Amino acid sequence: MKALVLAGGTGSRLRPITHTAAKQLVPVANKPVLFYGLESLVAAGVDEIGIVVGDTAEEIRAAVGDGSRFGARVTYLRQERPLGLAHAVLIARDWLGDDDFVMYLGDNFIVGGITELVADFRAHRPDARILLTKVPDPRMFGVAELGPDGGVRGLQEKPAAPRSDLALVGVYLFTPAVHEAVRAIEPSDRGELEITDALQWLLDRRLTVQATTITGYWKDTGNVLDMLEVNRSVLETLDGAVEGDVDADSELIGRVRVESGAQVVRSRIVGPAVIGAGSVVRDSCIGPSTSVAENCVIEGSEVEFSIVLGGSRIDRAGRIEGSLIGRTVHVTGAPRAPRAHRLVLGDHSRVHITT
Ligand code: DAU
Repeated sequence: MKALVLAGGTGSRLRPITHTAAKQLVPVANKPVLFYGLESLVAAGVDEIGIVVGDTAEEIRAAVGDGSRFGARVTYLRQERPLGLAHAVLIARDWLGDDDFVMYLGDNFIVGGITELVADFRAHRPDARILLTKVPDPRMFGVAELGPDGGVRGLQEKPAAPRSDLALVGVYLFTPAVHEAVRAIEPSDRGELEITDALQWLLDRRLTVQATTITGYWKDTGNVLDMLEVNRSVLETLDGAVEGDVDADSELIGRVRVESGAQVVRSRIVGPAVIGAGSVVRDSCIGPSTSVAENCVIEGSEVEFSIVLGGSRIDRAGRIEGSLIGRTVHVTGAPRAPRAHRLVLGDHSRVHITT
């Protein structure tokens, strides 16, 4: 069995924290979301992985390499334009051969992995198996309608009036039957070859499409609270470790990871929390449920239930909570009068100011 991991797409749909980088590299507990997917594939015994790449190919390659650090063999498959999930299957046809495969969307996060699912698929080999999860607003997902017996009755891609609250999760298991389907379908209104349409094509021809409903699912939908929450839940599973330097005037409480080259000086870190490689935390209080990425400087500040991305600096900023701070951001306190906020904010930023 092989895996087809989709990490293509252009920069235009990237949210919430980056408009230029690959969304599959958005970090959760200081690790790109894509890496969790690769790890769960290898854990499920699927180590031959084709990664579909587009505009951000170089960034993805630099992060993943040949896959050996994950125990996988990675082949990169270039998709010239993001013409849809089913188009990615089309262009991967030769590489996939006649093997069964897992298609895994690189911006999806499945809590608890996919080991059981893959084992079950291998044992029963339906023509296709999809994963579903209940979501509050299904309109931005593929949506499945189930019959009274739990069988899949129909599928729609991003319907304006969803027939259920069951969204398609970005992990699909396929036998080679899908290849005929992706060749047969036409582009949708948004100009993409939809995998949802390919699945519907299989259903229309009475092939077996089974569904499994899961809980514990996240994808980057631009909702910061969701992102903080998935970060928090992954931090909960973290083992504490100190690879950097923590001085005698600092205190680490609970599960705290201080990565190599990081320095903690006269500070208190309350776990679960991670301080990224090369970051400096001085005269500050960090955590709980906080990830500070690599090469940040936090001085004279408090940061709780937040994510701070690489190269950012927070200096005498008082207390920050429930925040997502992007890359190379500077937040500085301005203690002197006049009392006013001075802001340099990127496009689509959201700031909550206590007045
Ligand atoms: O995340 C689950 C949803 O993923 C499903 O509910 C939908 O049915 C499915 O169509 C898909 O919806 P999105 O429109 O949100 O997919 P997105 O464009 O974000 O692409 C998902 C991943 O696949 C992402 O890592 C980028 C990659 N991709 C996407 C396209 C369209 C490619 O590699 N090539 C492509 O052509």
